[in-house]
Amino acid sequence: MTLLINPNRFKTDFDALAEIGSTGDGGVNRPALSAAHLEARRWFLQRAQEAGLETRVDNAGNHSAILQSPTSNARTLLLGSHTDSVPNGGRFDGALGLLAALEVLRAVKDAGLRLPVHLEAIDFTDEEGTLVGLLGSSALAGALSAEALRNPRGGRAALEEGMARAGLAEAGLLDARRDPQSLAGYLELHIEQGPRLIQSAVKIGVVTGIVGIQSYRLAYHGQANHAGTTPMETRVDASLGASAFILTARELVMREYPGCVVNVGQMSFKPGAFNIIPGAAEFALEFRSPEVKQFADLERALLSLAQFIARQYRLELTLEPAGACTPAPMSLTTRAAIAAAAESLGLSHIAIPSGAGHDAQSLAPLTDAGMIFVPSRDGVSHSPLEFTEWEDCVNGANVLLRAALKMAESG
Ligand code: GLV
Ligand code: MN
Ligand code: MN
Repeated sequence: MTLLINPNRFKTDFDALAEIGSTGDGGVNRPALSAAHLEARRWFLQRAQEAGLETRVDNAGNHSAILQSPTSNARTLLLGSHTDSVPNGGRFDGALGLLAALEVLRAVKDAGLRLPVHLEAIDFTDEEGTLVGLLGSSALAGALSAEALRNPRGGRAALEEGMARAGLAEAGLLDARRDPQSLAGYLELHIEQGPRLIQSAVKIGVVTGIVGIQSYRLAYHGQANHAGTTPMETRVDASLGASAFILTARELVMREYPGCVVNVGQMSFKPGAFNIIPGAAEFALEFRSPEVKQFADLERALLSLAQFIARQYRLELTLEPAGACTPAPMSLTTRAAIAAAAESLGLSHIAIPSGAGHDAQSLAPLTDAGMIFVPSRDGVSHSPLEFTEWEDCVNGANVLLRAALKMAESG
């Protein structure tokens, strides 16, 4: 079998999608369910229809192109990624994997291959978490809770506005589960978003597992007061708690939690003026670990650190969870299929973990899930500077094609 994807068609699509929500500096701004994101999804369905593929949009807004198998009762091999982006993100994150999936379906169709599985290229809703995070894939997995929708990372109002724009309903989101028995597996091509492949000059990453990610909204409450007349000794300054937490949490993770990361990506002081001591400091905390027990230990350690700092600075602490997904190992079957595919193409490969979240972690408890990484220049992602050589993108798409054919063999 010497089947390969069509690199020119793939590039034409890649460049066209990068225009939708383009920020003019190589990046895209397509937050989930924004006007630009919805336009990208319409464009994807149109490209699928032009290729003679079936299309489908489910209750969670996941957009699919489908190449039906002639076999009765065939299962479905999902190949996916996402068209949403972080605010001012890069043009490769998500788009590459989805367009490679579409290209795989077209290559198989053009070659007239009759596979014993349906192939479905799926664009999952809100992978990035500007609203909820892994929204479409967790809905498909039957793992989405009403609670997760009540208090999402991006705030309830943004979720409601996005759902209204996209014509989605909460009841539908909670009822988008697919029968795991109907699935033959899930494969996703993605840029690595880190430096390991580039640094080791290896072409393909076979992902071993995906980190767990947990988010909290925290706030320290002190006493707003006059910034000029209140002596330094008597201030109850909420900004000190937040600042101390950021610095100490970093030290704690670097000292005691190897392989883990912590991030405070948003902060605001209230009331928020030059001449008022902050009465409150609100901030968005996220932390990640590749391993279940370590993930739980890290959560306990960070939350007790937050309490300790509150006492130290005479502040009150409030916190609310804002979403979580657990660490997910990738299946040995998919890892073997991806490694064999890379070898059949003469591409070097190594096993690597993913520090980024991906829809594959929603699918992993249900079906064989696996991911293929290609090198990211300078390891940069979630930035307009995100870049992967086109040759590497084509390599990744061909590995996806061959790994899919391998997975399809077992029906
Ligand atoms: C998604 O890309 C994430 O890892 O936050
Ligand atoms: Mn992504
Ligand atoms: Mn991303």
